[in-house]
Amino acid sequence: MISMDLVKVAALRDLELRLTNDLDLPLRESNLVFGEGNIDTQVLFIGEAPGMNEDLQKRPFVGRGGQLLNKMLEHIGWKREEVYITNIVKRRPPDNRDPLPEEIAAYKPYLTEQIRIIDPKIIVTLGRFAMNYFLPMAKITRDQGKAFKLREKLLVPILHPAAALRGNEAMATFRASFEKLPLIIKKWESLTAEAAALSTEKDGPQEQEKLF
Ligand code: URA
Repeated sequence: MISMDLVKVAALRDLELRLTNDLDLPLRESNLVFGEGNIDTQVLFIGEAPGMNEDLQKRPFVGRGGQLLNKMLEHIGWKREEVYITNIVKRRPPDNRDPLPEEIAAYKPYLTEQIRIIDPKIIVTLGRFAMNYFLPMAKITRDQGKAFKLREKLLVPILHPAAALRGNEAMATFRASFEKLPLIIKKWESLTAEAAALSTEKDGPQEQEKLF
C-alpha cells in the first residue's frame, strides 16, 4: 500500500481547485487533466498536453501513447501507480495541435506549484515541448536519454511516446532511454548521498550541466 502525505493531498486538491476556477486560463473549452499517480514518488513524468482520450477520461496518457508508456514502465520493473504523470499544459489544444508559447506560460505557475508539492528527485520529460520547458536550448535528438542537473533535481528528457510509435528507430531509442532510467537514478542517488555526506553543495555542478 502506498503511503499518502496528507499535507500534499490537501495542497494538490487546493491547486486543482484553483486551476479549475481560473477563468483566465486558455483552452477552457477542454476538460482539465490535472495529473495522477503516487504523490510521494521520486520520479515525475511530464508530457506535453492531453489528447482526445485524455480529455475524455480526464487522465494523462491513457491513449496509445499512454499504453506504450505503461508497457515501458512495466518493462523496466516499475508500475504506473508508483510514479506521478502530468503535462505542462493541463487542457487539450484543439485538434491536438502543438501547445502555443502563451498556453505553456499560462499553465506554468500551476506546474511549478505541482512540482514543488510533489517534490520528486527526478523529472522525466516526454517529448520536445516538456524538455524545452526546462531546458530551452536542448535538442530532442541530441539530448534525449541524457541526464541534466536542474537545481537540486535530476532531469532526464526522453522522446514522446507518440514519436516512438511513428517508427522502429524512434521506438528503439525510446526503449533504450527507458532502460537507462533505473541506472541513471541509482547513480544520481549515490551522487546526492555522497554530496550530502561531504556537504559540498555550493561547489556542485552548474544548473543544466549534463551529468552522465
Ligand atoms: N500526450 C501528452 O503529451 N500527454 C498526454 O497526457 C497524452 C498524450
